[in-house]
Amino acid sequence: MKVGVLSGGGDAPGINAVIRAIVRRGIQTYNDEIVGIKDGWRGLLEGCFMPLDLNAVAGILPRGGSILGTSRTNPFKREKGPEQIMENAAKAGLDAVIAIGGDDTLSVAHKMADYGLKCVGVPKTIDNDLVGTDYTFGFHTAVSIATEALDRLHSTAEAHNRVIVLEVMGRYTGHIALYAGLAGGADAILIPEKPFDIEEVCEHIRSRQRRGRNFSLIVVAEGAKPKGGKEIVYSERIDEFGHISLGGVGYYLAKEIEQRTGIETRVVVLGHLQRGGSPTAFDRILATRYGVAAIDYAHEGKFGYMPALQGNRIVPVPLKDVVGKRKTVDLELYNIATTFFG
Ligand code: F6P
Repeated sequence: MKVGVLSGGGDAPGINAVIRAIVRRGIQTYNDEIVGIKDGWRGLLEGCFMPLDLNAVAGILPRGGSILGTSRTNPFKREKGPEQIMENAAKAGLDAVIAIGGDDTLSVAHKMADYGLKCVGVPKTIDNDLVGTDYTFGFHTAVSIATEALDRLHSTAEAHNRVIVLEVMGRYTGHIALYAGLAGGADAILIPEKPFDIEEVCEHIRSRQRRGRNFSLIVVAEGAKPKGGKEIVYSERIDEFGHISLGGVGYYLAKEIEQRTGIETRVVVLGHLQRGGSPTAFDRILATRYGVAAIDYAHEGKFGYMPALQGNRIVPVPLKDVVGKRKTVDLELYNIATTFFG
């Protein structure tokens, strides 16, 4: 078989581990030819490919980013985009395409089936908001980085008797904020799923003060919004899938907290530090399992599916049950976290 591989959307630590697994399994087990498609769906639109042999993937397991590059290109926003993709896939002789991505990239893979493209998906996003799978790869690494940030901020906040607000990624869901907040002992965790009341947040800080804890750590997901308000946007830039750039809620919170409590407050926006660099061992293993399963699915003719982690098993889940939906945080876990607020 000749199989094309692409990575689309925001990068996530572990993409290279997926690519390596596809190539190693594809060549060694099936005698496949594997072709890298550059920069997500843009590579298929423009016919940009690179050969992926065993040497091309040597040493990439621990590397962040994507050796293929990535983009947020949406072929359905281009004149005759899907037709162009079919033409280039046929010219390249591709029998199947493995698309590594989050909801946007996988939605394109799902829709391209109507044009005859045989796709298998691989669930990727640090946000962990894809349905059908317990974890996307990249999430565990992002949580580890955010937890380490909290540990470091803890000591400086305590030394200066300050409040520090840590803003983490999470456009529509608060998985990173919740997990890192729990692991790092945050004094309040604000997530998109639960609009916050600024006075309640200040009350947590004051109640700590009353028992002699003169510092606090607040974790906020970029998509969190005040009750009755809207999320705070960083710029009016909208990508080809209709997403606006978020960011800045940390600054809004810090200003309000300082004004209302009188405690000096600082902000740290973790941003793309959460996405860059080497994946954790957990993400390397998960990404490897996904890559192996994806090429197996291509050989089993399981097109329109993605491998998913359910419990400790990798199972095929139809893309039609995944795309356009969103996995929100487990509110039971959030309730556990609230035990430690204030
Ligand atoms: O990958 C998803 C995500 O991490 C969101 O949480 C965030 O809003 C977005 O990517 C930012 O990505 P970029 O700056 O690459 O557009």
